[in-house]
Amino acid sequence: MQRQYAFFILLLSILISCKPTMSQMSSIDDKVDQLLQKMTLEEKIGQMNQYSSFYDITGPAPKDGSAKTRYDQVKSGQVGSMLNVLGTEQIRKLQQIAVEESRLGIPLIFGYDVIHGYKTLTPIPLAETASWDLEAIEMSARNAAKEAAAAGINWTFAPMVDISRDARWGRVMEGAGEDTYLGCRVAEARVRGFQGDDLNSTSSIAATAKHFAGYGFAESGKDYNTADVGLSTLYNVILPPFKAAMDAGVRTFMNSFNELNGIPATGDVFLQRDILKGEWGFDGFVVSDWGSITEMQDHGYAANGREASKLAAIAGSDMDMESSLYVEHLKDLVESGDVDETLINDAARRILKVKYELGLFDDPYKYCDASREKSIIGNDEMLAGSLEMALKSIVLLKNENGVLPLAKSGKNIAVIGQLANDKNSPLGNWRGHVDANTAISVLEGLQSHSTNTYTYEQGVKLFDGEESFIRHINVNTTDDSGIDEAVAAAKGSDVVIMVLGEHGYMSGEGRSRANINLPGFQQELLERVHSVNENIILVLMNGRPLALDWADKNINTIVEAWHLGSRSGDAIAQVLFGDYNPSGKLPVTFPRDVNQVPLYYNYKNTGRPGPIEMVFWSHYSDQSNDPLYPFGYGLSYTTFEYSNLNVAESSDGLRVSVTLSNTGKYTGEEVVQCYIRDKFASVTRPVKELKGFKKLGLEAGESQEVVINLSKADLSFYNNQGKLIFEPGEFEIMVGGNSADVLVETIEMK
Ligand code: BGC
Repeated sequence: MQRQYAFFILLLSILISCKPTMSQMSSIDDKVDQLLQKMTLEEKIGQMNQYSSFYDITGPAPKDGSAKTRYDQVKSGQVGSMLNVLGTEQIRKLQQIAVEESRLGIPLIFGYDVIHGYKTLTPIPLAETASWDLEAIEMSARNAAKEAAAAGINWTFAPMVDISRDARWGRVMEGAGEDTYLGCRVAEARVRGFQGDDLNSTSSIAATAKHFAGYGFAESGKDYNTADVGLSTLYNVILPPFKAAMDAGVRTFMNSFNELNGIPATGDVFLQRDILKGEWGFDGFVVSDWGSITEMQDHGYAANGREASKLAAIAGSDMDMESSLYVEHLKDLVESGDVDETLINDAARRILKVKYELGLFDDPYKYCDASREKSIIGNDEMLAGSLEMALKSIVLLKNENGVLPLAKSGKNIAVIGQLANDKNSPLGNWRGHVDANTAISVLEGLQSHSTNTYTYEQGVKLFDGEESFIRHINVNTTDDSGIDEAVAAAKGSDVVIMVLGEHGYMSGEGRSRANINLPGFQQELLERVHSVNENIILVLMNGRPLALDWADKNINTIVEAWHLGSRSGDAIAQVLFGDYNPSGKLPVTFPRDVNQVPLYYNYKNTGRPGPIEMVFWSHYSDQSNDPLYPFGYGLSYTTFEYSNLNVAESSDGLRVSVTLSNTGKYTGEEVVQCYIRDKFASVTRPVKELKGFKKLGLEAGESQEVVINLSKADLSFYNNQGKLIFEPGEFEIMVGGNSADVLVETIEMK
């Protein structure tokens, strides 16, 4: 035995001494080329095939027939990736089959929707964006990557970088809101966070920029609906966040379910080949959305599965998520000459390259360390990061009479609303692998951060029954019997905290709403409680802008708390008690009424902007053009004043400076926002466009000069040929604490 051991050591040392130095090692591209040469056509197509989990942890023999086929396909090298397989144990077992039982032993890449956390949840992405704190957003994505990577995941289908201007669209919650500039910066931060400095590290996972493209422009806000957008909007509004993600190094793209201008994005040569892989030179790979290749038949674009495969492969969809059409048809399509084999080589090369970059060829089990999984998931760092992000995401919408911050003792407080006592809903949608009912509720937060006396009343039930990712929430519209008890509790209390809004599963995929009011009987509850006690603090939980006209007119104190994740109640309590001074700003416009939608701050002026006395200008006769809360809006417990706006030409554009003064009583943070208007251009420009911002903290009474530099590129726009151009002329430069309230300077640019 000992001799065998000694021989083994000797062999190992010979091998180590023979190991090539770094300079001798071939580059990843060479390795991929060498591997490709060994691969059969079927094996290359196999890399392009992705299935959702079928593997059963109880044993390697799955129960139903299709699972058995898929399992055999992993063995025969016909599967390149899996999604929804979770945990180091399951992932290791499946990886073992690919690596040890398939001919070439090519590792699988394991993907999952890690959207705002894996097990410890941070706020939904829309809420995180409200922080305008790019470092915090990066940290949050980094933590999500650490947890997911510790659970065996190599790749997240995030960030969603779709711009959306339609509050009805359920997936507004998953993105960075309505603005392209902010969307670009957040996309970069999230990509950096997920991928880290080194993709090869065991705490990094590959990110995905999705959904390419136009998915957020679904007509009438209905999910999966047709998107019909002009070139100017495509180039200036929709595409830049994707480009920003790519420039930040994102390794994969996901295409989208929608058709864009008549072509399903999954089969769109213009988007994927011409722009993404051509003009932009993207060298990662594109995964289809779930079944989006087969859905091209329903779109009326492909007559059958074979044609759908052909169109998708030609358009540059490298990996087929869950429609299995590539494994069924691509070989035949190549052999019949309908699809050029070079396209298959290109797709397989891209996929293999990312696997190499992740280090999966060096160690296919590098993400499968059960002890790391145990020590990282849900640890103190994750929980602290979640709280920090939640605090920064809260937006103070109204605080008249200075009701907030609230005293921590001596108050008799009624807490009303089902959401106040809910530990599930605040986790939001796209909630990774979190355990249900693990959020800190508002009630728990209030109780643990203060000694006030709390009386909880549900009031009306907002929802009943199943809370599920795949089914609608059953909103109660029949039973308002709890209102009386809530009113009675409110009557005798010093303050009423009402937590109203949407269940976490009322926004997200497939959750478009035609109505964006407070659902169920909540409006009635609010009005009835208000009739007996006006001292109401309204805390909102929602995944999209809500139409809150009545509340804004009648309620003095309103806090936007979104779906804040695992530490929700702690964060809300800390803000209400003033332990944390809110600093969030809305990343989306809040309309007064759903009928104003799409409503966004960077609209075009039109030829008849008005207002004029006659009716002939662009407006409604029965509703204002103005939003309820504009983009970029949010208050603090302190107040800020802007003065001395100064705009001067610099070597590469403009130097914009302003004096920011904290004129209130508290230390606080402000997001200084800089907008431009290019007054006359060969393609008309919006009345305002965000082009820079800075978040900074000031003590009470302190003033500071804030400088924002705008480059020529910031003052440029994309023409209808997709070229970024700068046109000299008059520019308005605007600076303020939200998009509607700004100081303005005009400058002539040469
Ligand atoms: C969604 C994608 C998601 C995929 C995998 C689809 O329904 O549109 O965003 O990544 O499912 O779960």
